[in-house]
Amino acid sequence: MLFVPASRPDMMEKAVRSAADAICLDLEDSVSAEEKAPGRAHVIRALQSLDFGSRLRIVRINALDSPFAYRDLVDVIEAAGAQVDLVMVPKVNAARDLAFVDTLLTQIESAMSLPRRIGIEAQIETAHGFLNLRDIAGASSRLDALIFGPGDYAASMQMPSSGIGERDSHDDDYPGHRWHAVMHMIVAAARAHNLRCMDGPYGAFRDLDGLSRACRIARAMGFDGKQCIHPAQLPAVNDVFSPSDAEVTQAQAIVDACARSEALGQGAAVHDGRMIDAASLRMAKTILNRRASTPTPGT
Ligand code: COA
Ligand code: MG
Repeated sequence: MLFVPASRPDMMEKAVRSAADAICLDLEDSVSAEEKAPGRAHVIRALQSLDFGSRLRIVRINALDSPFAYRDLVDVIEAAGAQVDLVMVPKVNAARDLAFVDTLLTQIESAMSLPRRIGIEAQIETAHGFLNLRDIAGASSRLDALIFGPGDYAASMQMPSSGIGERDSHDDDYPGHRWHAVMHMIVAAARAHNLRCMDGPYGAFRDLDGLSRACRIARAMGFDGKQCIHPAQLPAVNDVFSPSDAEVTQAQAIVDACARSEALGQGAAVHDGRMIDAASLRMAKTILNRRASTPTPGT
């Protein structure tokens, strides 16, 4: 997913030709207060006029404790709701936040006779959001994804951090992964409710090695993808989150070996010097399912 500030129509034109699977037009933190209203007009124009191909069209509204959020929804969804796939809600603190967005979307969809229900993505990036994850994940049938927001989360928890989603000297002081608790809770809440889970952005967009490392950690924890802020980040992210041919071959070999052992009436069997059983089959299938659902980037 590639973020584009709502104040940058020039970047929107580039984003819709990029290797991203999803484009998020951002009305929140990348847009100054004076640019919020003109930004909505840019977002509406882009949704109405640009060809996004098969890329998901996401609009990030402002936080619900700001004076901007209701007008983001009313103006953008009334004018271009038929061209919006998902509304991203930042700083979701509780289930009631999603209930508010859900209700307002229902009213606008009805008033404008929109042909499809618009989905919701929830950013988990506050202390309340973390503590209320269980309820948030089940708060709306529109909910499609949970997203970790490392910058705001660090601020909310008063965790010192010199960049957004980057490794720094504080990580050397901590005997573990500093974001593990919230990140793994997001994955668990997402899987329990059949939602996608996305890792947040990596601010140092010229540090591709650091980005790649952050992607590998998120992938190892079960995340489905990562938000990008610059097109140069897309290849590394697409690479890490798409199962490799080697992973797919290995997973298929385990599925085949499990089928052979089942035919012989065996539960546990030996494959490649390792014990495999029904759990191995379930793990292998997650890789094959991921490959089957991985879009060809940018098509
Ligand atoms: N989407 C589309 N195109 C982008 C882009 C983006 N997010 N970020 C940069 N580009 C384009 C630039 O316009 C430039 O195009 P050009 O070669 O045709 O002139 C090219 O990529 C190289 O950009 P570069 O000069 O390296 O960066 P920059 O200084 O123009 O922009 C940022 C850097 C960080 C300001 C910019 O990437 C950005 O605004 N990112 C999104 C920020 C955001 O949305 N944050 C909110 C979520 S955390
Ligand atoms: Mg944020």
